[in-house]
Parts: sequence; structure tokens; C-alpha cells
Amino acid sequence: MGKNRMSRREFLQASVAGLSFVYLPGVGRVKASPFESFDSEDTYGRLCFNENPLGPSHLALEAMRAAAYEGHRYPDWFSSTLEGKIAEHHDVSSSMICAGTGATEIIRLVADTFLYPGDEVVTATPTYSQLASEATSNGAAVVHVPVNERYIIDLNMIRAAIGPKTKLISLVNPNNPQGTIFTMQDMRIFMNSLPTGVIVVVDEAYHHYVHSPYYESCIRYVKEGFPMIAIRTFSKAYGLAGVRIGYSVASVGYTSMIQSSQNIGMVSRLGQAAAIASLNDIDHVDSTVSLNDRAKEILMNGFSALQLEYIPSETNFMMFDTGMSAASVASQLASRGYHVRVGWGMPRHIRVSTGTMDEMYGFINALQEILGQNFLKDEPPTFGLSRVHPNPFTQQCTIQISTSSSERVRLAIYDAAGRMVKSLVNDVLAPGLHDIVWDGRDVHGRDAASGLYIINLTQGEFATSTRVTLVR
Ligand SMILES: Cc1ncc(COP(=O)(O)O)c(C=O)c1O
Repeated sequence: MGKNRMSRREFLQASVAGLSFVYLPGVGRVKASPFESFDSEDTYGRLCFNENPLGPSHLALEAMRAAAYEGHRYPDWFSSTLEGKIAEHHDVSSSMICAGTGATEIIRLVADTFLYPGDEVVTATPTYSQLASEATSNGAAVVHVPVNERYIIDLNMIRAAIGPKTKLISLVNPNNPQGTIFTMQDMRIFMNSLPTGVIVVVDEAYHHYVHSPYYESCIRYVKEGFPMIAIRTFSKAYGLAGVRIGYSVASVGYTSMIQSSQNIGMVSRLGQAAAIASLNDIDHVDSTVSLNDRAKEILMNGFSALQLEYIPSETNFMMFDTGMSAASVASQLASRGYHVRVGWGMPRHIRVSTGTMDEMYGFINALQEILGQNFLKDEPPTFGLSRVHPNPFTQQCTIQISTSSSERVRLAIYDAAGRMVKSLVNDVLAPGLHDIVWDGRDVHGRDAASGLYIINLTQGEFATSTRVTLVR
């Protein structure tokens, strides 16, 4: 098999040029535009890698600390405990899981296992293109199908591009760099129309961030026996990008083929421990998603105020149209300490990862300065009920509200018949975002019954409401 891989030097050169086939993490070491002033030790403003600004979960940190004491011992060669935990998490057999050093290793293994010279891979463009690069390294041809006018992967067009040599379909859902999803309805039609002998690979690196009701994980197709390989990573919502763990979920047959291409002992002792602990820390994932939602809201408000068009995103990054040369804006942002990505054949678009609140406000202000417009510094979010999480809930839910003035805020829960169940806030709050917890109890401290509840928020002349479901 051709092992003509991109060298580290070629990769770094390609990365700074913003070419669409760039995929590896590690661009931070490059000392050239738009990363000129980028110091890999400097984490503030690092909005180019779609990392988790909250870092690893505290359970993962504890597990890694404990594992470090055994750092002189080789790890579980086959990551058996980790694969077992992942299998439990997805409710599949552990022989359907292959853990590796990041999704990056898994993607390479999939290409090495299934692709030979003369084969064809059909993929979207732009997308996260590692599999396409690996395909080329293995002598396979790649058919690139453009995303549609809403930047969504067009499954009809992908289907139409399948030919007699097609071996693999490579999809990323949600997609990187646009942050869009294809719907479960479209995917069902696509899977049902798949010719025999074609394997579908779906990279779900950003799965946890999605809120759309039209999205679902393709792991369901693995369970239903379709020729599907789903790929996940611990680098994003679990905050372990530096620890390097990813995995595939596929049939027992595909999994054993993939594993036979893999060296043993690839996932470190610390990596295995961290991943196992992360799977148990649901709160950390929830906090990550909640921070991401708030960060995206700041970005969207900022883009709207600056009259910049953006692509609605289901991920922890967003693309927006600068209306001018994106490379020039990116390099001016870099000189102000904010590092973003450009490329993918989209010369006016920038991809920015979400970060902390401070980074988001700072980024928008830097952008405003660059675009030379008048934008209020630290503009508070507008009035509203931004999200309720989890919903449905059993123990407690967190209601995120944004208040726009210093007038009294009233937040209360009503039952479906319109009776007030509990008042949560009746106070003057600082303008901005607030997380309010409802513990599922009524005004007397008794557990409220299962059912639908209305959350009502008022401030001065503004009022809004949303629903939450309590399941006991
Ligand atoms: C879609 C997608 N897949 C895979 C990866 C790489 O994942 P990992 O860090 O697990 O190698 C990335 C990294 O940004 C990504 O965006």
C-alpha cells in the first residue's frame, strides 16, 4: 500500500497556507502568518483548534494523577477496560469498539484497512479531510462533492457520486469547518439507498454540542447492522485533546479488521484512565456545552451587530463572512492575540472556535476594531431565556436567562394549568447571563409531579416563556 504520507514539514506549510486538506492538530508550533505571533504556551485567544476552554474534567485530572504514579508500567495493551466502558456507554458489545490515539489514529487505521489502489472514496467539500488525505496515501481516488448553498453536506449528491469503484463514503456530522448537520431523515434515505459493498464512515467529533432535533448519531446504523463506522473523539467535549484518545464504533467484523492494522499499546496509561473517568463525568460535558452555547450567543450577537453573515453552527466553532480577505483579517486578529483559521477555498470566511466569555468579548472587540466599526464594548446579552438543561430532567435543571437592564427580574415555574409552582427569582440582577437552578420542588419544598411545566421570565415590559419536562 502506498505510504506516501504528508511529512511534518509539508503539513505545517500547508496549514499556514490554510489549504483544505489540513487536518492534524499541532499547528501551534508554526511561526508564520496567520500564526506569526502564536506561542504554543500562550493559551489565551487560541481559537483555532476547536478545543475545550474548560479543560479536562476534574475526575479525569484525578485519574491521570493516579495513573502517573504507574507511569513506569506499560498500559493495558488492548485498552480492554476503556473499550468495555465505551461499549457500555453506547450499549454495544466491546468487540465493536476500537480505541486509539485520537480520532486521527482511527481515521488512518480505517483508510489503511479498507482502501487499496483503484478504490474510490466519496466525500464532501469542504470538510475535515483527513480520510481523503489518507485515501490518497493509499492509492485510492477521492471524489469531492460540494456542500449545498446552506453549507450542508448534500447526501443526494453524495449518493449520485457513488460509482462501481466506490469503497468508502467519508462524512463528518456535524461538519467541520461549517458546523452544519445533515438531518436524520436525509441520512435514513441515504442509508436505505446504499449499494452493497460500500462502507459509510461518519466522523462525529462534535456530536455533544448539537441541539438540533433533526440530528442523530449514526451509531444507530451500526446497531441496525448497516455497513457503518462511526468515529468519536475525547478531544472536544471531554476536553482531552492533549491526551489523544478517539475510537470507532462498528460491527465486530469491521472492528477486528481495523484492530489488526493497529499496533498494541497505542493508548497511554494516562489516556486510558482519563477517558474512563471522563465518561463518568456527565456534569463536565453539560458545563462544556452550556459554556459553548453562551459563547456562540456572544459571537452571533457580535456578528449581527457588525452586520457580518455567519453560518449557524451546531458545534464549538463558527464560520463568518468577513466581507473582505479573511487571511488579512486573520493576521490582524493574530497580532491582537486571537488565532483563527482560514482556508477551505472560502477566501472571505474565518472559522473561530468558542472560548471563554472573556475571549469571546475580546475577539468581537478586536474584530470590530479591525473592521473599523462602532461596537459597544462588553455589550450585555439581550433579554431572554436562552436554554434549559437538561430537558427533560429528573433531579434538577439549569435555566439560563439573560437580563438586559437593572429592572427587577421575575422567573417562575407554572404547571400546565397555569398555577404557579415556584418562584425562582424576584430580584434585581446585574444585566447579563445568569444560571438559575430549579430542583423540581414546589413552593412548599415537595417534589413536583412528572409533567410539563412552563418557565416564565419577565423584566419590566419584557416577558418570555419556555417549557420544561420533569420526569420522575
Ligand atoms: C471532524 C474532526 N475529526 C477528527 C479530529 C481529530 O480528532 P483527534 O483530536 O481525536 O485526533 C478533528 C480535530 O479537530 C476534527 O475536527
